[in-house]
Formats: sequence, C-alpha cells, structure tokens
Amino acid sequence: MSEAWINQVFCEDALAGLARIPDGSIDLILTDPPYNLGKDYGNDSDSQTVEDYLRWTEQWIDAALPKLKPNGSLYIFLTWRFSPEIFVLLKKRMTMMNEIIWDRRVPSMGGSVRSYSSVHDTIGFFVRRKDYYFDLDSVRIPYDAETKKARSRSIFIGAKWLEVGYNPKDLWSVSRLHREHPERADHPTQKPLEIIERMVKASCPPDGVVLDLFMGSGTTAIAAKRCGRNFVGFELNPDYCAIIAERLAMPEVPAPPEKKKKPAVKRSLVNS
Ligand SMILES: C[S@@+](CC[C@H](N)C(=O)[O-])C[C@H]1O[C@@H](n2cnc3c(N)ncnc32)[C@H](O)[C@@H]1O
Repeated sequence: MSEAWINQVFCEDALAGLARIPDGSIDLILTDPPYNLGKDYGNDSDSQTVEDYLRWTEQWIDAALPKLKPNGSLYIFLTWRFSPEIFVLLKKRMTMMNEIIWDRRVPSMGGSVRSYSSVHDTIGFFVRRKDYYFDLDSVRIPYDAETKKARSRSIFIGAKWLEVGYNPKDLWSVSRLHREHPERADHPTQKPLEIIERMVKASCPPDGVVLDLFMGSGTTAIAAKRCGRNFVGFELNPDYCAIIAERLAMPEVPAPPEKKKKPAVKRSLVNS
C-alpha cells in the first residue's frame, strides 16, 4: 500500500485529520479516547462538561465510521462512567459483539475510601455487518497441561479445540504498565501491547489498516507494525508525537507469532 496517509501518525486534531483518509479504507478502528476524568494530556480534552464530552464523542464517531470498510470493526476503550451513554450511541450505528473488561490487576494507590477501588476499563467491540473479519485462531490461548490431562476421556481425544486452544474470554487480566515496565513511555494512560495486539490480530487482516484517532504514546501504531498491519492516526500533543516517533524508530521486535504467514512489515513514518 503506498497511499500518502498510510503508516503515519499526524500530529493534529483527529476531527480535522480524518479528512485525509478515504471512506471505506480502514479495516479496524481501534481507539482509546480521553475518558473525561480530568487527566492532563497537555490539552483540555479530558476535562469537558459531560454535555460537551458526549457531543464531541458523537461528532468524532460520526466522522470516523464512514472510513471503515463494510466488513470492518471498532474497539473503543472507555470507563464505566460514560460507557453506558457511548455504547447506546454506537448501538444505533453498529452491532455490539462484546463488552470486554480489562482488569488492570493492580489497583491505583490511594483513591476513594467511600466506594470500591476501580480496577477495570470497559472496551466495546462493534461490527458493521455479519461477515465482519474475525480470525479467532490467531488469538486462541493454549490449554495448560493440567486441563489437557483432565480432558483425557475418549470423547476429547483428537478434539481440535483441545489442541488449538480456547477463545479468549471477555475478561482480560493484564497488568497495567508500571513505571519500570520495559514498554513504558512517558504517557499517563499508555495501554499494554499485549491487549492491543490481540485486537489487531483478531480483527484486522494481515496487510490491512488500523485507525486510531487518539494515539497517545503510539501503542496502536507499534502493535500494528509488530503484527504486519498498517496504521494511521492522530495525536494532538506534540510531546506525545515525539514519543511516538521514538517508539516507531526503535529496532523492530515482532509480536509473538500468529499461526498464519505474515506479510513484510511496511515503512513507518511520523508526520509532525
Ligand atoms: C487515552 S490517551 C491514548 C493512550 C494510548 N492508547 C496509548 O497507549 O498511549 C488519549 C490521547 O488522545 C489525545 N487527544 C485528545 N484529544 C485529541 C484530538 N482531538 N485529536 C487527537 N488526539 C487527541 C490526548 O492528547 C491523549 O494523548
């Protein structure tokens, strides 16, 4: 693929930048927008009134969805605070396949003493049509030896699913990235590659294109590159754009192997 917008992260407002992308060209929208919890991203995006936040969310969703191919999918990271409203909005436009819970495992330090400690993010998985792309085999989880042994009765012998592993559940327990984690960049809400790569492998064909409107530290771009997919996206904060450029320039470590043959990895550029 040689289009000028492919494998670039543009340091600009996503709503303006979407005009660069032709309609019907994206296989997967995988995006992690501001949650409106008052985080400091060097801009006001996470500190809007509820009305403005929901209006803006609807605006970017309506601008982004025409970019998807008919068999494309969308994953959106949210919190319980606004997922009900945003899921309703998306369900008017797409079919909801899953609500995935990302269990961050380690609770944040401190926090409320008048409610329970929140340790999960809510991820919505949506599709446009019944024939959406979904490669389950690329993300199956091998059964451990104990389970295999427990399924040793004759009816299980030779059972394909026992050999190929199981379909990941909708509860994903992956620790958030601590300061010392080798993946960690200087971004307050960086997501682990393990999570993003699972979504990319399952829902974007090899050589397809993943769009992330809110790149942050560039995790979606790195994941796409490691998995042999293309990417495009936007980030408002120039400091984060520099981090993305740095991460993309690092020597390539391929993602853990998929069962299918991967195509050559594409050229990566960051436009700032
Ligand atoms: C939740 S973070 C994304 C984190 C990312 N998934 C990662 O792993 O690093 C959201 C990002 O959206 C950016 N942002 C906010 N409003 C934006 C806009 N209108 N256009 C582009 N980026 C925006 C923020 O600066 C912030 O870095």
